[in-house]
Amino acid sequence: MNSRYNSVDELQLALGEQDYIAERGLTVAIYLALKTGKPLFLEGDAGVGKTEIAKVLAALLETQLIRMQCYEGLDVNTAVYEWNYAGQILHLRLMEGARRHSPDSEDMSREAMEDELFSQRFLLKRPLLQAIEQSQDGSAPVLLIDELDRSDEEFEAFLLELLSDFQITIPELGTIAANVPPVVVVTSNRTREIHDALKRRCLYYWIDYPHFRKELNIVERKAPDVPPMLARQITAFIQDMRSMELFKRPGIAETLDWTAALIALDQNELSLETVQDTLGVILKYQDDVEMLDATTIQNMIERAKVEAQRAG
Ligand SMILES: Nc1ncnc2c1ncn2[C@@H]1O[C@H](COP(=O)(O)OP(=O)(O)OP(=O)(O)O)[C@@H](O)[C@H]1O
Ligand SMILES: [Mg+2]
Repeated sequence: MNSRYNSVDELQLALGEQDYIAERGLTVAIYLALKTGKPLFLEGDAGVGKTEIAKVLAALLETQLIRMQCYEGLDVNTAVYEWNYAGQILHLRLMEGARRHSPDSEDMSREAMEDELFSQRFLLKRPLLQAIEQSQDGSAPVLLIDELDRSDEEFEAFLLELLSDFQITIPELGTIAANVPPVVVVTSNRTREIHDALKRRCLYYWIDYPHFRKELNIVERKAPDVPPMLARQITAFIQDMRSMELFKRPGIAETLDWTAALIALDQNELSLETVQDTLGVILKYQDDVEMLDATTIQNMIERAKVEAQRAG
């Protein structure tokens, strides 16, 4: 399969160059997915870096990213292909009109008309068909099937079939098969369990919230202008916050947004006032915000400062 990287270390370095910090376990999973051609199935809470992996992989492999966002009610028409009915009807009318104007011209046979109406010209290609078609010319794209847990089980069953043979049959046109299967990344936020049958086809990795060093590393990469002490305090504060009983714990996305907010406010250190003013950047539920009264925040800031000193 894809042999651009000859070792896990080499891949880890390359991911780092794309500003993606991956621990060893995750890097091994990505490496094996590339080597074996198996889809990579990533599960984890919101904002831990699942979608980003597909984007970074497309950049690394210098190929296109085809994204399929899943949602409830997603069907084959939206995922694979659809006929452009409006276009077909218009074309049919034009053909009829042309025939009326020149009645002497040879009539098109019924089959020929159907062939014309059900040709590539009127085929609307959706992400899964696009991914398979693009794989025909040998340059496999990265196919991201994002948030599969949001789709129905019916769609999941269809996907299982697709992932096993990477081909799609369109009754009017025939079978289209991928020469080189796309690099597939499937993500789930685990709002429901994905069936074992699908998981079995994939390499599975659970992306946890990052530990302190990983998160600090991400903050420093993604926000190079952040004062070093502030970066450590932010990271320690967020790590502390994740140990609380919150309705929605902050992901890495929130850490990065908060960092940007504190830089915009010219902060060098955490203070009670700014933390209170900017809580809405990290917490998106009022119940969670209410849990953080002034005393709690003050204690958290003090702990974050100690931790930041120690990590310096
Ligand atoms: N390991 C990492 N290295 C660098 N940046 C990261 C990493 N993990 C997450 N990020 C950053 O955090 C943000 C959120 O990541 P992403 O959108 O991939 O999360 P997600 O797991 O797909 O979340 P959701 O479930 O909400 O879709 C992105 O801006 C991404 O750049
Ligand atoms: Mg995502």
